[in-house]
Amino acid sequence: MRKILVTSALPYANGPLHLGHIIEAVQTDIWVRLQKMLGHDCLYVCAEDAHGTPIMIRAQSEGVTPEALIERVAAEHARDYAGFLIEHDQFHSTHSDENRELATSMYARLRDAGYITRRPVRQAYDEQAGMFLPDRYVKGGCPSCGTPGQYGDSCEHCGATYSPADLVNPVSTISGSVPVWRESDHIFFRLGAFEEMLRGWLATDALQPGVRAKLDEWFDAGLKDWDISRDAPYFGFGIPDEPGKYFYVWFDAPIGYLASLRALCERTGRSFDEYMRPDSRAGLYHFIGKDISYFHTLFWPAVLQGSGFRKPTAVYVHGFLTVNGQKMSKSRGTFITARRYLEHLPPEPLRYYFAAKLGPDLDDIDLNLDDLVARVNSDIVGKLVNIASRCAGFVARGGGRLAGTLPQPALYAEFAGARAGIAALYEARDYAAAIREIMLFADRANQYVDQHKPWTLAKDPARAAEVLGIATQGINLFRVLMTWLAPVLPRIAAEAGRFLGVPIDRWDAVASPLLAVPINAFQPLATRLDRKAVEALVAPEAPAGAAAGPADRPAAGTIDIRDFAKLDLRVAKIMRAALVEGSDKLLRLELDLGGETRTVFSGIRAAYAPEQLQGRLVLMVANLAPRKMRFGVSEGMVLCASGADDSQGLFLLSPDSGAVPGMKVT
Ligand code: 2FM
Ligand code: ZN
Repeated sequence: MRKILVTSALPYANGPLHLGHIIEAVQTDIWVRLQKMLGHDCLYVCAEDAHGTPIMIRAQSEGVTPEALIERVAAEHARDYAGFLIEHDQFHSTHSDENRELATSMYARLRDAGYITRRPVRQAYDEQAGMFLPDRYVKGGCPSCGTPGQYGDSCEHCGATYSPADLVNPVSTISGSVPVWRESDHIFFRLGAFEEMLRGWLATDALQPGVRAKLDEWFDAGLKDWDISRDAPYFGFGIPDEPGKYFYVWFDAPIGYLASLRALCERTGRSFDEYMRPDSRAGLYHFIGKDISYFHTLFWPAVLQGSGFRKPTAVYVHGFLTVNGQKMSKSRGTFITARRYLEHLPPEPLRYYFAAKLGPDLDDIDLNLDDLVARVNSDIVGKLVNIASRCAGFVARGGGRLAGTLPQPALYAEFAGARAGIAALYEARDYAAAIREIMLFADRANQYVDQHKPWTLAKDPARAAEVLGIATQGINLFRVLMTWLAPVLPRIAAEAGRFLGVPIDRWDAVASPLLAVPINAFQPLATRLDRKAVEALVAPEAPAGAAAGPADRPAAGTIDIRDFAKLDLRVAKIMRAALVEGSDKLLRLELDLGGETRTVFSGIRAAYAPEQLQGRLVLMVANLAPRKMRFGVSEGMVLCASGADDSQGLFLLSPDSGAVPGMKVT
């Protein structure tokens, strides 16, 4: 029996979980459930990532304490993880006593061992808000291409990276004031001191080839000291003996894994040291996305080693999730939160789909909604559940008890004998290959039933024993398949276990078939996915009563610069304008957004004839969620001036000459 500790990345406590979080949790959960079914002592811990400026600011803007914000978001996260059947052994928080104790003691050990240094850092400072500004909180013109409204670290338009000091006309997104530049002392972790250790660790099986290649690049670029402090005001843990300084959120975030383990150990009487001492023989596995590899493959092993703990056994990195081939995007409606998914669909189809797509490498994974429907309906409903539903009735009619022998024991042995190979594919995180293999076996089980046609034999009462034998064989093959899919489909497996009268919770239980035992009445284990419900994930209905166009004006209250910054206002060119059949208010506009084309239904028919509009530049809200209307989907809104009602007329807004489609309006 192996002792194994597994983690997935800690979600930030200031926003909802989305399907990008869920794919990682599902990948981890499947792996953990497999280990448990194999009989290993495997723990899965996670926590809220509760510190940092965004959480502090968000709490301020909501008028609540950060603690209250974290508590609320943690409850939402817990509900959503549970909704996707993610089973954590411990879900903790980085804002906890355990984490404070671990972060401060680990820091003290690093400092005492000489791995901590300090030097001044020049940073943007918001005098009005009285705080230093992280790069993302300064906006201004890109120093490279001039596009206004860019963040302080990189330009979304041309991809240039730079520091906030390079921005043209920088402003603080907190107060809207112009930042000044101030120096203060920061505390650094001397990562370079661990280069040799890290190179040695890299030579083990700890990392995938794609991650090793990235690490080589980082080594070539040179390992720089890591800034682990932030100045007050900051939401986090104060650094001992450093008044006004706090641990940077990324310093105590991975330590949160250990805090969660510690809380679990205290609750259950386990030994923390058994997992974390330098010579520990327990496995320590981190599942993460590729965007946070640097933290987990360089800083984290170095911090662990430097503070006297063991290093991770492996860091398993997955690619990004795309939806219908594109990056998840709020404006396209493909930014799907966990909650939204669960409001429309059950969790297991998505768990199955993700499993069928997840390989052991860093490739991005695409959620194609048509493919989701097709696969789930064909594999889970059409193949897997079908075997049981076809056979169950014959057992019921034969007295509700399985036959005492199998007509084809060799076929059963072949199925059961494949279990080590399937487990190895899961273990290697090649879930896609495992699912392919399992579905080939499912095809064979269906072929077995097809060939023996119990429904034909059942017409002859003299062949009842034969029919029961065939059904018993079919149900036993189903049991093997269901066991292999239990890590992916835990709820269906639990239902199937109730049907069979024995739980499906041990990998090796299928070594011998189920014979001469009663089984229960069959209840449908899964239903077909409804294409409409799936489409509803990405095509929001217009809110009831909402009209298109300028009439639906929100009440004007005071907003701050951050609210304004949420609007993606762009210059667009009307390529085509057309009347909309069946509507006397709307025009259908095709807009060029500088390379991207959008369709917008605009309520300006009373004021403009289509032929007046072609070629005209307008201003549009480009990140308005698409709205499904009777006539089609409207992908944004063009801006008009109007009076209190439309009786004074409608006036399209246009930029001065010289502006081109795609420009941001700031
Ligand atoms: O990138 C993120 O979402 C971080 N909250 C992940 C932290 S993982 C760990 F190191 F704590
Ligand atoms: Zn640029």
